[in-house]
Amino acid sequence: MTEYAIAQQRTSIHVHPLTPRECAGVEQLVDDMARTFGSVETAEFADACALAAQELPRPLRELAHRFKQLHLPCGAVLIRGVPVDDSRIGPSPAHWDATWRNPPTLREEIAQCLLTSALGEIFGWRTQENGRFLRHIVPIEKERAEQLGGGSSVTLVWHNEEAFHDHRCDFLSIVCYRNEERAETILSAIDDIEVPDDKWAVLSAPRFVVLPDTSHLPDQNVSSHWRLDDDAFERIRRMYADPQPVPALSGSRQRPFIQVDEAYMEAIAGDHEAQAAFDWLIDRFNEHKASVVMEPGDMLWIDNKRAVHGRSVYQPNYGPRHRWLRRVNVTLNLRGSMPYREHAVARHIV
Ligand SMILES: [Fe+2]
Repeated sequence: MTEYAIAQQRTSIHVHPLTPRECAGVEQLVDDMARTFGSVETAEFADACALAAQELPRPLRELAHRFKQLHLPCGAVLIRGVPVDDSRIGPSPAHWDATWRNPPTLREEIAQCLLTSALGEIFGWRTQENGRFLRHIVPIEKERAEQLGGGSSVTLVWHNEEAFHDHRCDFLSIVCYRNEERAETILSAIDDIEVPDDKWAVLSAPRFVVLPDTSHLPDQNVSSHWRLDDDAFERIRRMYADPQPVPALSGSRQRPFIQVDEAYMEAIAGDHEAQAAFDWLIDRFNEHKASVVMEPGDMLWIDNKRAVHGRSVYQPNYGPRHRWLRRVNVTLNLRGSMPYREHAVARHIV
């Protein structure tokens, strides 16, 4: 494992290098889809992807199945050798607000959506880049100290994606196009942590509030490609003004689910016992931290209900070869978010 630059204490990352046969199977499906779609950012593409994922090589479908059904003792899977053509994808974008149609990264985007669709259904958030499925994660100088994808000079602290929302993703994938700065993606899985009875009693009670992270606010969504109606943020505003208490851990005592965002979450005002339990949990995540220096062609599948993730401090080489990752979210229950979507086939939660 050390040859892959992975440091881990137990079993939180399962590594799967793509075999030549698997790689050829993925490329074949990408060829087919690239003939039909010039963008991954449509509900039609997401539907086609869900179907095409059923034709992925069986070992990959089996890997996804075992990961989903908790047969693998890990919170994340690292698939290595996903095709990324460094010359074709061009320079790293300066900002997340890059083009949506016929991007030079189309084949890489299709491959990521296809492989991630083996885990669930792709969706987006209207209040985050107007529902774009596949985000660009690149360093942005003026955001270097923020808890955002553009940050770099501070640790991106432990979080589940959209921890504030009932319909947060079950899994996310991150694909690395470039990481010459060798920033570490950090992970910690709940299965690595022994939660004693007294801590479980507190952490599994609705004694915490999680605010929406700033990527869902209007000023983080100013784009030259679209204009987002201010009404779209109405629900986020309500969640901000009146957050409903939630537990930090839930579900099965043996295999709990996590709902944590260290930067945007705290115990209900005055509940010192809950705050102490929360701090204890964060300390345990730190103690069981695994880290990966992602290489081009690495894809992480992260279980967003059973692992938290973040990023180490790093010094970006701001310019055409700076760090460049892509992220997509999937859900096991697309029907569950229907009341939050504009219509049944839309994939954007408002
Ligand atoms: Fe994240």
